[in-house]
Amino acid sequence: MSLYGLYPSLVRPLIFCLDPENAHSLTIKLGSLLGKEPLIKLFSQQVADKPVEVMGLKFNNPLGLAAGMDKNGDAIDYLGALGFGHLELGTVTPKPQKGNAKPRMFRIKAAQGLINRMGFNNAGVDHLVKNLQQRHYQGIVGVSIGKNEFTSLEHAVDDYLICMNKVYNYCDYIAINISCPNTKDLTALQEAEPLVKLLERLKAEQGKLAASGSAGRYVPLVVKIAPDLSPVQLEAICDTCLRLKIDGISATNTTTSRDVIYGLPHASEWGGLSGEPLRALATKTLCRVHEMVGDKIPLIGVGGINGIIAAREKLDAGASLLQLYSAFVYQGPAVIKDIVDNL
Ligand SMILES: Cc1cc2nc3c(=O)[nH]c(=O)nc-3n(C[C@H](O)[C@H](O)[C@H](O)COP(=O)(O)O)c2cc1C
Repeated sequence: MSLYGLYPSLVRPLIFCLDPENAHSLTIKLGSLLGKEPLIKLFSQQVADKPVEVMGLKFNNPLGLAAGMDKNGDAIDYLGALGFGHLELGTVTPKPQKGNAKPRMFRIKAAQGLINRMGFNNAGVDHLVKNLQQRHYQGIVGVSIGKNEFTSLEHAVDDYLICMNKVYNYCDYIAINISCPNTKDLTALQEAEPLVKLLERLKAEQGKLAASGSAGRYVPLVVKIAPDLSPVQLEAICDTCLRLKIDGISATNTTTSRDVIYGLPHASEWGGLSGEPLRALATKTLCRVHEMVGDKIPLIGVGGINGIIAAREKLDAGASLLQLYSAFVYQGPAVIKDIVDNL
């Protein structure tokens, strides 16, 4: 049995004694230590090569780490050594911010779910850029960008532009997070008019940046959407993404719905629900997006991927790339190998 095969029986019971946020902070701290030589050799994980080319980028395999786990890029080298085909870091904002009051992360153990209302706690985009510059990991890195809590929706575009300009030369794609349910009013950016305004400006900036660098690098823009959109909203978003030639759509972020976990401990905490209870809703959203955009825009399937069956479900629904977060908490790094080797 590999080192990480012991996670569910040995490590998880210890980690689950800790409050979920402390467990997360400890994981990232350990990750930043284990990511250094010579420990990284001991703690890395070999997975099968399953190369795919999406958005003009070459991935070693389709499975990536979803945004939110390593918001500040503090454990890039360790997480990159676990076999992910890409890492999505962030969400970062222009200025550092503390996020919402604690406690703000809850395990829904009976359903293998998590509820979080972190509220974009992060060390600010400059901290992430420093970590990106110092990384040894050579796989694909995406950066998820957002707006600071006290930036009004009217000025949100300025925050996204600041982050985009700062990370552009240090990552392979940029994810535009307009779907986190825990930052006040953020999801209003998914409405038709503000979305068009935001994406037009970001696409124009992408054009400028791609033309201005000496290497002329084109960094794809991915829009990450919620699973809680009405059919009309979803159609408007897809139309806008098609018209503005957005490079990728990521479906989905966490849900505010509690239907699937009604009555379970912590189910009434406010925030975004992820993991197994999100799986079906996220896949349904992905399917709908695929029906509307076809193969014109590559899709990232995320939400409840916890094994090969769930991974295949997303690929069948039209995803070219996959991401997970909650399954890493419940199953540890072995879930990456289980999925990638069987794809
Ligand atoms: C604690 C936590 C923090 C998250 N933070 C972010 C974030 O900063 N940006 C983002 O786009 N998604 C964030 N997410 C959502 C995940 O990226 C992902 O879309 C969601 O958890 C569904 O995937 P999963 O079911 O595999 O966890 C977060 C999720 C969790 C559980």
